[in-house]
Amino acid sequence: MAAAASLRPANGKRWTELYPELGTGPVPIEPYVSREYFERERELIFRKVWLNIGRVELIPNPGDYFVKELPVCNTSILIVRGKDSVIRAFHNMCSHRGNKIVADRSGNCPGLFTCKFHGWAFGLDGALRHITDEASFFNLDQSTLGLVPVAVDTWQGFIFINVDPKPGESLREYLGAIGDGFEGYPFGELAATRFSYDTELKANWKVLKDAFQEVWHIPTLHHKSIPGVFSDGDNRWGHALEFKLYERHGRVSLPGNFARKPTPIEAVAVRYGAGATVIKSAQNVLPPGVNPTRDPSWSIDGNALFPNCLLYVAGETYLTHTFWPISENRTLWEIRFYYPQATTLAQRFSQEYAKVMLRDVNLEDGSTLERTQTMLESGARKQIFLQDQELLIRHHHWVAEKYLNS
Ligand code: FES
Repeated sequence: MAAAASLRPANGKRWTELYPELGTGPVPIEPYVSREYFERERELIFRKVWLNIGRVELIPNPGDYFVKELPVCNTSILIVRGKDSVIRAFHNMCSHRGNKIVADRSGNCPGLFTCKFHGWAFGLDGALRHITDEASFFNLDQSTLGLVPVAVDTWQGFIFINVDPKPGESLREYLGAIGDGFEGYPFGELAATRFSYDTELKANWKVLKDAFQEVWHIPTLHHKSIPGVFSDGDNRWGHALEFKLYERHGRVSLPGNFARKPTPIEAVAVRYGAGATVIKSAQNVLPPGVNPTRDPSWSIDGNALFPNCLLYVAGETYLTHTFWPISENRTLWEIRFYYPQATTLAQRFSQEYAKVMLRDVNLEDGSTLERTQTMLESGARKQIFLQDQELLIRHHHWVAEKYLNS
């Protein structure tokens, strides 16, 4: 590993000590197991903030749509690109008697979304265009009966929605400084090659999120699958190059162990190009929001977008983990990996290797997290304990408490 400038802040303190408002004490287990706490998260966080639900490349053409089920907000959202190319979002609910307008997950609608119950039809802009058996209704004002709109906006090609009927701030205001400095990063270009995994876990959504906000579990949990990707003899636990916390969001910049000896099959994949692993040195010039440390040993940044999305950005690949609460102990976990377009069969092999390797690593996490949830629910202890490298977890709880007490 190339020598990092410093694995501690310049003043020699630990990272958590730069943010004294967070404290250093244990964290209560209640937020991971309590149904009442979950209901408060649902009302005071998920129904109030901007949520990342996908990328613009999912709906490139007029009429393209996808549906995002949001049980945490008790709704289903229809996202559609209009004939004017504007992306709009609506509650996926017919204005007549409430049927779900679109039952499939994605597609292209040439002009009208027609309800399969009694046939009311809505335009791509959400306006009610047709009422079947209209003469039998009483005093309908068609102009007020369009699909109920949901606030939607994009940042760097990521689509965010906010189900609050009157969001208190714009998406850009919500992201704040963590949204700066990404201009020029090829998010859209890399989205051409994507692979994904969705799975449901019997664990609280924060149990999952916590696991992907720190990497010091890797030398232990993943000691067979990916040992030493962030760590080496000088940095045994893969300590971060830098943590940076913002009002709601946070970033961790991680070193890579580029001298790590790959397995024989991994060595073949690495030799043939992009995609074998996200842990490689950056060869390209990156915008200031990526690798802000400019440390030669840097491999990847983890951007924790409150509340439930982690955006990991490396030199020529990025990935997202999004954790959708279903209940206090069930979560839909969405994983999306984005790679450069393979131009040779060898590069494709390299990317297929990465796909399988990362799946296996994530399976190691998943089984561990379900076991963790079981014991958090046992009541045997009331608190968990966080060390300095788990700063993003501590920060999440601090931000969440501000929302829950607002
Ligand atoms: Fe949609 Fe009746 S519920 S037309």
